[in-house]
Amino acid sequence: MNHIISTESIYNDQAENWLRSEKILLSDYTARPIVLQELGSVTGQHLLDIGCGEGYVSRMILDAGAASVFGVDSSSEMISQAKSVAAELGLHKAIYEVSDAVTFNRYPRTQFDQVIAIFLFNYLTVKEMTQVMTNVKSLLSPNGIFIFTVPHPCLPFMRNQSPPFYFKFGDKNYFEGVDVTFEGRIWRRDGITVPVRCVHKTFTHYFEALQSAGFKKMPSIRELAVTEEHLTLDPEFFGPLKGYPLHLLFKVQANG
Ligand SMILES: C[S@@+](CC[C@H](N)C(=O)[O-])C[C@H]1O[C@@H](n2cnc3c(N)ncnc32)[C@H](O)[C@@H]1O
Repeated sequence: MNHIISTESIYNDQAENWLRSEKILLSDYTARPIVLQELGSVTGQHLLDIGCGEGYVSRMILDAGAASVFGVDSSSEMISQAKSVAAELGLHKAIYEVSDAVTFNRYPRTQFDQVIAIFLFNYLTVKEMTQVMTNVKSLLSPNGIFIFTVPHPCLPFMRNQSPPFYFKFGDKNYFEGVDVTFEGRIWRRDGITVPVRCVHKTFTHYFEALQSAGFKKMPSIRELAVTEEHLTLDPEFFGPLKGYPLHLLFKVQANG
């Protein structure tokens, strides 16, 4: 994917704003806790975190009792943060590597119990996403589970460009925008914003890509949004998003 500013430079520049030890970004409230919930018990499990960023989710997984987490991310600064925090906290079961997830093939294990990709596919084209899903299928243990989250494909067309989360769809519509990059921003509760992007896909593309990758079972889907709990906690921050579908969470089993 050719961009004026590469995704690597965006994340290298923004690594400090992503570094966190507790919830701060909008999606730390609206998406990541649901991923943890859907993973269920991870005790003794080996997990793969693709597009792991600075390691926030992998640290929570280790905290929940996982045997190991291997994280891969294309941003050297995000991985550098992930490694230093893991070293500071003595998390020896977290291993991180800098690489493009599409071409990466030096996994430390041949099989993983669960694989996650939290807001990775919105940086990849349909073809690249299908390649990563194919890799994931081959890396999952027979009873393995794959969970991924992406921005809801309808959100850019439903909301104007205002805090605390938006994508600019320019002159494209829902169908014309496929594989086009929509630049966006997401807010932290302290007012700091970070740039995000969404290489647009329709709902259908996620199902087709899973099918091409060899997943035979229907995925389960959750359309994530702000909840009453969020609105009570911080009505000013979460209020503007009330009633909008923010993210999609897919959960699919390795074997059908
Ligand atoms: C929105 S951040 C999410 C990070 C992390 N999953 C989390 O939930 O905190 C997206 C991450 O995907 C990474 N990324 C984007 N394209 C990638 C690629 N082709 N290969 C590996 N990582 C990629 C970025 O560097 C960034 O760290």
